[in-house]
Amino acid sequence: MAMLSFSSRPVASSFLLRPNRRPHRLLLPTKPLATASASALTPPVPRDGPIATGSPDADATPLFLRPATHPVPASALAAFRRRAAALVPPSAPHLHRHLRWLLADASTTSSDSDPALLRAPLDHIEALWLGHVRARRPFQYVVGNEHWRDMVVAVREGVLIPRPETEAVVDMVKGVEGFGGGWWADLGTGSGAIAVAVARELGDGGRVFATDVSDVAVEVARLNVERYGVQDKVEIRQGSWFEPLQDVKGKLMGVISNPPYIPTEDLPGLQPEVGWHEPKLALDGGRDGLEHLLHLCEGLSSALKSGGFFVF
Ligand SMILES: C[S@@+](CC[C@H](N)C(=O)[O-])C[C@H]1O[C@@H](n2cnc3c(N)ncnc32)[C@H](O)[C@@H]1O
Repeated sequence: MAMLSFSSRPVASSFLLRPNRRPHRLLLPTKPLATASASALTPPVPRDGPIATGSPDADATPLFLRPATHPVPASALAAFRRRAAALVPPSAPHLHRHLRWLLADASTTSSDSDPALLRAPLDHIEALWLGHVRARRPFQYVVGNEHWRDMVVAVREGVLIPRPETEAVVDMVKGVEGFGGGWWADLGTGSGAIAVAVARELGDGGRVFATDVSDVAVEVARLNVERYGVQDKVEIRQGSWFEPLQDVKGKLMGVISNPPYIPTEDLPGLQPEVGWHEPKLALDGGRDGLEHLLHLCEGLSSALKSGGFFVF
């Protein structure tokens, strides 16, 4: 993670002079979600392989936001809990934790009621669980959200799960003099997590232009913007990098971006949760991983106002 300030110096120079230096990244693939034992439990299966469970939800609303309209006898729920736990060895405590969280998201708070009221049919919840433990579908896609900073960010297949590493970006930009009234761009906004968090800190006149080329990202970012009520501060625009920002050229106090940076040849080696399930569009940084970052550097000089910042 880095923040650079640019005045009259050509903005791309600090990168282009050191083309072989891999920049310190905002985001790395998630720390392994699967322990060695969980890996043993679920040997890698090619993404296009036989696993049928855990396919994307038809309902993209995060589980905890769905109405609890599915009554189920407490005994059936208890039986599911036992079946689900039996799939996971004690040596994979994170999966046992995920089971508790899944049930917490899926049920109303009065969990000892009989019948219990669930936010999805029990067989659907079971399929979600199988998708997680067998198909290595990330837990965040299973429940449709990720806890990030003080927010609960909606996510789904097709949009990158925001990582803890990016949380610090918001504190970084908050420290910039005049931050609150500035215009910022979050390029490749994904779920919109950064844009929303920045917008919540802005004062009068402050604005975030959040761009992404992906349809799903744009849709999910809009949902998160609405959920946090920052429509007046965040403008989502669809398109490639600076393309949708022609009208604010030279007016931005800062550009924030966490572009895809994994070298194409490294993609097959990613842990299954990332490589099989997260969008290639959000991961693939081209031959050396720097393709998008260098493109962004080239556009900065015309996008930023003098003294503007690039946070990446
Ligand atoms: C590593 S993800 C970062 C997502 C989000 N900013 C975050 O930190 O969670 C990179 C994002 O860049 C987007 N992206 C890829 N190519 C793009 C392009 N040509 N123009 C705009 N966005 C692009 C992807 O769709 C993805 O959302």
